[in-house]
Amino acid sequence: MLELSINGIDVQVEEGSTILDAARFLGIDIPTLCHVEGLTPYGACRLCVVEINKGEQARLVSSCTYPAEHGLQVWTHTRRVVEARKMLIELLLAMCPSSKTVQDLASAHNVQKVRFKVDYSDCILCGLCVRMCNEQMDARAIGFINRGKDRRITTPFDVKSDICRTCGACMYICPACELRCQGPHPPGDVCGGCLNVEPVCLEEEEQKMCFMDPCGWCYKETGRRKTEKEK
Ligand code: FES
Repeated sequence: MLELSINGIDVQVEEGSTILDAARFLGIDIPTLCHVEGLTPYGACRLCVVEINKGEQARLVSSCTYPAEHGLQVWTHTRRVVEARKMLIELLLAMCPSSKTVQDLASAHNVQKVRFKVDYSDCILCGLCVRMCNEQMDARAIGFINRGKDRRITTPFDVKSDICRTCGACMYICPACELRCQGPHPPGDVCGGCLNVEPVCLEEEEQKMCFMDPCGWCYKETGRRKTEKEK
């Protein structure tokens, strides 16, 4: 067993565990996007970033790929970590502003505005579809090509694939292909109104973590029934 400390709490985990595994064992919430149980960790989105102290040095690493090490000190919510996460969410929003998953992450992390140029890409390059196709569907019908800004996901030789069974698993797992946010706000704005498919009633706000801001916004936009408090 390896013993490390997360936010000052000692924890023992098995050899081969990641920092994320150890944090989850302790019930510490670290946001993730490209990490899904059952698929190989890929470390694409970096949203699971945490700060580690190794000797004198403190640095940021992605917790879903970084192996738990004996004696490691980990901090999951330092100012540096929180700022890094917010910046990453802004970048994701700039790539794919209509993704409900990304909009929800933005709301949950209090990202109000996107300072980067919005390019309305349909892909955030998280690689979930590729891993799903390869590892769970055993089809290997899609993969990454090119590098840098030209990097994208496609079929072998960029032509219609014979091995694709059109099972839809890639679309199922994609955080960008899902229900699009149709909010009334201009590009780059984070409406925060679609965090819950069923808007949470105001009297339940404390229990269910409603991120609507200002409070009651969901009612104005969705026209849902009034709560007892609102009547
Ligand atoms: S969840 Fe760890 S890098 Fe995406």
